[in-house]
Amino acid sequence: MSGPLLCEGRVVIVTGAGRGLGRAHALAYAAEGARVVVNDLGVGLDGTPGPDSPAARVVAEIRAAGGQAVAHGGDIATTDGAASLVRTALETYGRLDTLVNNAGFLRDRMLVNLDEDDWDAVLRVHLKGHFLPLKHAAAHWRAEAKEGRTPRARVVNTSSGAGLLGSVGQGNYSAAKAGIIGLTLVAAAELGRYGVQVNAIAPAARTRMTERTFADTMAAPGADSFDAMAPENVSPLVVWLGASASTGVTGRVFETEGGRITVMEGWRPGPTADKGARWTPSEAGDTALKLLAEAEVPGAVYGAG
Ligand SMILES: NC(=O)c1ccc[n+]([C@@H]2O[C@H](COP(=O)([O-])OP(=O)(O)OC[C@H]3O[C@@H](n4cnc5c(N)ncnc54)[C@H](O)[C@@H]3O)[C@@H](O)[C@H]2O)c1
Repeated sequence: MSGPLLCEGRVVIVTGAGRGLGRAHALAYAAEGARVVVNDLGVGLDGTPGPDSPAARVVAEIRAAGGQAVAHGGDIATTDGAASLVRTALETYGRLDTLVNNAGFLRDRMLVNLDEDDWDAVLRVHLKGHFLPLKHAAAHWRAEAKEGRTPRARVVNTSSGAGLLGSVGQGNYSAAKAGIIGLTLVAAAELGRYGVQVNAIAPAARTRMTERTFADTMAAPGADSFDAMAPENVSPLVVWLGASASTGVTGRVFETEGGRITVMEGWRPGPTADKGARWTPSEAGDTALKLLAEAEVPGAVYGAG
């Protein structure tokens, strides 16, 4: 016998939910009883406008399975798009409980070939595309808390191993995804008093974003084996983080891929020296080398070497 649904009564926004990971999250939330606002602008892999409406297709899938969902086709990296996204949840379902920031695209280039436009577009869609929906959702939740209706609100942000360790050929994307970690930490600290928990994931899965570049590691196995790179494997943790069951978990980063979940442990002070006075540059250098010899070696940058 199955237990109660984890997200019964909750209203969940998932950005970029027309394909890939976002689609898997939207279907998984609906399967746990949530009503889902399925956002997707329907752009190409590099952010260029596309002809189709993947959000409407995912809404149809959720409804066919007996769930409730509504489509939103706005650009989450604009004030209008982010505000209307939150408004869609409130006007359609009368509440908002969870925001999953997931939409984005890539413009991979080595730094010397990276155009300003490619820098701006990727920073815009990931970093601003996280900030604006978060800001509009948080404004609603703060108003609720001030009216005495403190919510059990949840935000799940989407970073990447590229943001945590760096990734060759992805200077723009790595900077944006690292920025999302900083934003997550600040949001968790600022919004806790309004009943809002904010966490981030660094996923890995087979989607159009990865199926060509990492074709070997992402390939689907034979029918009888566990398909570790299926995007559906990332969604269970995202659903739990977005449910009221995750009470007490905030400001954390999880890597999630296949059947594995890892808590990522962030920057913390390592070996330290304090002279109690100003170093000369040579002394500072000697001290830095001595401390580095004692420190842990950082994880390798993806694609380096
Ligand atoms: N696939 C992976 O292994 C992997 C690894 C690390 C991080 N991520 C991150 O996971 C998230 C989802 O990626 P995916 O692999 O499912 O890619 P995807 O291309 O399959 O899906 C992204 C969706 O976002 C939509 N989108 C893009 N810009 C938008 C905008 N401005 N407004 C609304 N929708 C927009 C696209 O139309 C697309 O449907 C991204 O943030 C990505 O950086 C993915």
